[in-house]
Amino acid sequence: MLQNQPFNNRNRAGPVFNHNPNAFLVECVRNRRPGKALDVGMGSGRNSLFLASRGWDVTGFDIAYVAVAQARNRAKKLGVKLNAIVKRDADFDFGTEQWDLIVLTYQPFRDLLPKLKPSLKAGGVVVIENFHRDTMRERLLDEDATYRNNELLGLFSDFRILRYEDTAAKPDWGIEFPKNRLVRLEAQKGDIQHPGCDWKGVAKPTTANVHWGVMTLL
Ligand SMILES: C[S@@+](CC[C@H](N)C(=O)[O-])C[C@H]1O[C@@H](n2cnc3c(N)ncnc32)[C@H](O)[C@@H]1O
Repeated sequence: MLQNQPFNNRNRAGPVFNHNPNAFLVECVRNRRPGKALDVGMGSGRNSLFLASRGWDVTGFDIAYVAVAQARNRAKKLGVKLNAIVKRDADFDFGTEQWDLIVLTYQPFRDLLPKLKPSLKAGGVVVIENFHRDTMRERLLDEDATYRNNELLGLFSDFRILRYEDTAAKPDWGIEFPKNRLVRLEAQKGDIQHPGCDWKGVAKPTTANVHWGVMTLL
């Protein structure tokens, strides 16, 4: 299983990170039916490969050619289908109502929100994990990759919040730190609903009279 494959980080050049899939993502998709997933800034594909191995139809992209090549090679070795693209986020075509899941782990996305939200299908979810702003007191971080108190809740206030955590835990990036303050969000895009209601399978406009037992609602 991908999740349990050991990795010796000490012998590797470059950033020291958890090569296993993000644990919060694993938890979020545990009981979710696989659909179309987008992994934004996929890196070398730890999350994409996990999702693909669980039957998701995965597209991932990253600006780093070497990372994307690693993801493609690993997909080939594991025998899983993966659409891995070399692309800068600003140039990626997110499309409209395309994705059942968008993964944003350790990935700045504020500028992408106007494209990200319409690209999710109704009922689709975003899964996010990143650093809390306070972690900048403990380690050098790009401010863009940190979030203030409840900021993620505000950015997705038009979504249904399924889970939100502001917690001290082992980070996936910079794993030499035993704990950092992290924020995590799982949020679902709402169904697009017409005004009024569905009564016994029939769509009723807001002004309709509906008979409910002996009562009449006006
Ligand atoms: C901290 S890593 C996180 C990788 C992955 N999301 C994960 O959790 O394993 C950030 C990734 O973003 C990529 N990246 C940075 N700027 C980018 C941009 N403008 N467009 C697309 N990818 C970018 C980097 O190459 C790197 O792989």
